[in-house]
Amino acid sequence: MSLDKRKISGFRIKQTDSCVGLGVDGPSRHIGLHRLGLKTLLTANNKASMDLATLESTPDFDRSGLLRHVLDQFKISRHGAHGPAHWARVRLHGLKVGREREADVLVVELFAFLHDSQRLNEYSDRLHGARAAEFAASLNGRFFDLKAVQLDKLCFAMEHHSGGDVHTCATIQSCWDGDRLDLGRVGIQPHKDYLSLEAAKMIASATRMSKGLSTG
Ligand SMILES: [Fe+2]
Repeated sequence: MSLDKRKISGFRIKQTDSCVGLGVDGPSRHIGLHRLGLKTLLTANNKASMDLATLESTPDFDRSGLLRHVLDQFKISRHGAHGPAHWARVRLHGLKVGREREADVLVVELFAFLHDSQRLNEYSDRLHGARAAEFAASLNGRFFDLKAVQLDKLCFAMEHHSGGDVHTCATIQSCWDGDRLDLGRVGIQPHKDYLSLEAAKMIASATRMSKGLSTG
């Protein structure tokens, strides 16, 4: 599969998922599922679409099983900048953009759940996207069933999500849009040049949500 990629350079602030020096959570606080219920961990706020614990599974997508599995192996704070509350916002934004752009929303949703799942710290973990791609491939056929072309897109989106690239593939860009629209949580204003036109219209509302000023 040939994926047409265009790299943007020359911007002073890269639109990546890195939180270097931004004062987010420090060392990991391992709070296991035995101490804090799955529902509590996955509830970002009172908005129903943000409550990952209430997402229904379907015969071809075991959402609750996947989320439980991801959390069981998650090595950083569940309450940090890359935890479930972030996944919920990435999912919400990514699906909204993806539906408008007729993207593959299954890939977009899986990106939200998995793209930061292999982080070893909250800061400059440069290979976490590549590890997430390997992790996703290992789960295919267990919690979800992606065709090869879908898995390729998911893995590409995850491996390159921290690179500050943009992409002509609506599915891949919708994944990145969802992630970048939540940059307000670490004090970075999303820049329209790194977003699709559809996502750029959501910058103000998404930033308010990232800062806890609205629930969408
Ligand atoms: Fe992220």
